Amino acid sequence: MPTQPVDLLGRRLRDLRISVTDRCNFRCTYCMPREVFGKDFVFMERAALLTFEEIERIATAFAAQGVEKLRLTGGEPLLRRDLETLVSKLVAIDGIRDVALTTNGALLARKAQSLADAGLTRVTVSLDSLDDETFMSLNDVGFPVDRVLEGIDAALAAGLGPVKVNMVVKRGVNEQDILPMARYFRERPQTVLRFIEFMDVGTTNGWQLEDVVSAAEIVERIGAEFPLEPADPLYPGEVANRFRYRDGAGEIGVIASVTQPFCGGCTRARISAEGRLYTCLFAARGHDLRELIRNGATDAELLDAIGGVWRRRSDRYSEIRTADTPARERVEMSHIGG
Ligand code: GTP
Ligand code: 5AD
Ligand code: SF4
Ligand code: SF4
Repeated sequence: MPTQPVDLLGRRLRDLRISVTDRCNFRCTYCMPREVFGKDFVFMERAALLTFEEIERIATAFAAQGVEKLRLTGGEPLLRRDLETLVSKLVAIDGIRDVALTTNGALLARKAQSLADAGLTRVTVSLDSLDDETFMSLNDVGFPVDRVLEGIDAALAAGLGPVKVNMVVKRGVNEQDILPMARYFRERPQTVLRFIEFMDVGTTNGWQLEDVVSAAEIVERIGAEFPLEPADPLYPGEVANRFRYRDGAGEIGVIASVTQPFCGGCTRARISAEGRLYTCLFAARGHDLRELIRNGATDAELLDAIGGVWRRRSDRYSEIRTADTPARERVEMSHIGG
C-alpha cells in the first residue's frame, strides 16, 4: 500500500476533480465569455482527451494515495458521450466512496436516470437566477430556467439527491436574485442552495473586486428575511460555510473563496480533460500525466509521479491574492472544472 502523500503545508490528498471535456453548451459571461470562446476558439481535439480507460487508471492511482471522492466536471461533463460508462468504472474503484457530477443541468432531465443506474452518487447543478432574462443573459445561449429546474427534479426523482444548487453572485448582475433563489429552494426538500463569490479564475472574465458580493453580505440579506444560524462543517475542509434556517426549513451554504479563503484545508487535485494534473484552481500549468501513460509508464511510476507532484505542492493562491495577482497567467475554469 503506497503511503499517502502530504504537501509542503501539511495537506493530504482527498479529492480528485476530473474534467471530461473543455466544451460547454453555455457561454456564462463569468466563465466562457463569447468574445473569447467564440466560433473560432480551438477546443481540445478528440484524440487529445483522456479515454475512459486512461481516466480509470489515473483515478485508481489517486485512490491508492488516499482519494475517496471524485467529481466529474467540464466544461459541461454531460456533453461527453457515454459518460455513464465512465461513472460505472469509477464507482468500482477500491477506496472510492463518492462519485459526484457538476453540471449546468441542460441535459440532466434526459440523463439523470441512466447516471443514477450507473452508480453516480450525487449531482451539483449550477443555476444563477430564476428570472429568464437574467439567466439567459448570463448563460448567453438563451437557455431557459425551467429546463434546469426540470433537470433538478429529474435528478431528485432518480435518487441523486440531495442536490446542491450553486449560484455565482455578481454585483449588479444577479444580486437581486439572491432572495428569490433562497425563497424557492427553502421550499424544496432535498436541495441545498449555495452562493459562490465571483472569483478571479482564468484570465478572460474581467474580474474586479468590486464585482464580488461577499458571503457576509449574502448571509445578512437572507437572514433579514429568514433568520439564520451558523452550522458546523459536515467534514474537515468543507468548502462551503453552512447556515441553517432557524425555522427548520433546511440550510444554505456560502463559498467565500475571495473574502474568507480556505486554502488551509485544500485537499483537492484537478485533472484536465487532456490529462494534466493541476494542484490549484489558479495554477498556470499542469503536470502531463497523459504523456506518462501513453509512453508506457508502469502503475508504480504513475503513483510516484502523482505523489511527487503533491509532495512538492505549496499552493495557496486565494490566501495570497493581492491587487496584482489577477494579472498572472492562469488556466481557465472551463479547462479544469470548478
Ligand atoms: P461537495 O462538498 O463534494 O459536495 O462539493 P464542494 O462543496 O467541494 O463543492 P463544489 O464542487 O460544488 O464547488 C463549488 C464551487 O466552489 C466551485 O464551483 C468553485 O467555484 C468553488 N471551489 C471549489 N473548490 C475550490 C477550491 O479548491 N478553491 C477555490 N478557490 N474555489 C473552489
Ligand atoms: N467564480 C466563481 N465560480 C465560478 N464558476 C465558474 N466560473 C466561476 C467564477 N469566475 C463555477 C460555476 C459552476 C462551477 C462549474 O464553477 O458556477 O458552478
Ligand atoms: Fe459552462 Fe459551467 Fe462555465 Fe457556465 S460555468 S460556461 S455552464 S462550464
Ligand atoms: Fe486550493 Fe488553490 Fe483554491 Fe486555495 S486557491 S483552496 S490552494 S485550489
